[in-house]
Amino acid sequence: MLELKNVSYKIVEQGQERVILDDISCIFDNNCLTAITGHNGSGKSTLTKIVMGIVRPTSGKIFFDGKDITSLSIDKRAKLGINYAFQQPVAFKGITVKDLIDIATGEENTTDKACEILSKVGLCARNYLDRDFDKTLSGGEQKRIELALALAKSGKCFIFDEPEAGIDLWSFEKLNNLFDSTKCNIVVSHQERLLKNADKILVLENGKISKYGDSKQVLKSLGSAYCEKLKEEV
Ligand SMILES: Nc1ncnc2c1ncn2[C@@H]1O[C@H](COP(=O)(O)OP(=O)(O)OP(=O)(O)O)[C@@H](O)[C@H]1O
Ligand SMILES: [Mg+2]
Repeated sequence: MLELKNVSYKIVEQGQERVILDDISCIFDNNCLTAITGHNGSGKSTLTKIVMGIVRPTSGKIFFDGKDITSLSIDKRAKLGINYAFQQPVAFKGITVKDLIDIATGEENTTDKACEILSKVGLCARNYLDRDFDKTLSGGEQKRIELALALAKSGKCFIFDEPEAGIDLWSFEKLNNLFDSTKCNIVVSHQERLLKNADKILVLENGKISKYGDSKQVLKSLGSAYCEKLKEEV
């Protein structure tokens, strides 16, 4: 279980303070898929990066299974079982997809095992295992591989920042089915189909939580106009 207590993130821009996240307190339960949504720039990626330790909050605390992890590095958080898939995957020259799969699982995988991992995201692994994970892969291919790598890791908490972004309609059901219901899953998304599949929805507006609760109720309270707007943003 993840808990954020009074988390704020402020930056100084051209000599002026700007509040990106404002006093966020919430709990992300185990055995729960929580979708975070909200307009572009509302603070969704910043919030998830704060959970992973990529961005340090200006104030507030983060607890994971009751332990205060606010001052822990990304590495230490990963060792505790928190995994993260970036909105925009980081590509490397000189590291193959197979290398990254082995790093993700912490062991050398057979070709069959690596194929199994990549096939979860609809990729035929034999075409990819020896390729560098770099910009020669299409945006959607990078995104799918990033998703497969995150899912291949062991852990208790999985954070996916817009897993659907740039991915064609290779079946949303398939994407929805990827999330392990026994884990604490946090998915940032603008997609109504993904939001509907979540157990809970957290809505951010200008760095504040405007709604948080049971997905059906939150979606109902947002109304169809909001969902239409989300579709337009994608
Ligand atoms: N280090 C930074 N310096 C300046 N501005 C920042 C910084 N980090 C975040 N921001 C700003 O904070 C706001 C929130 O950014 P964030 O990436 O969290 O938005 P988001 O909700 O994920 O948006 P999107 O839906 O477009 O992915 C944006 O206006 C962004 O420009
Ligand atoms: Mg974002």
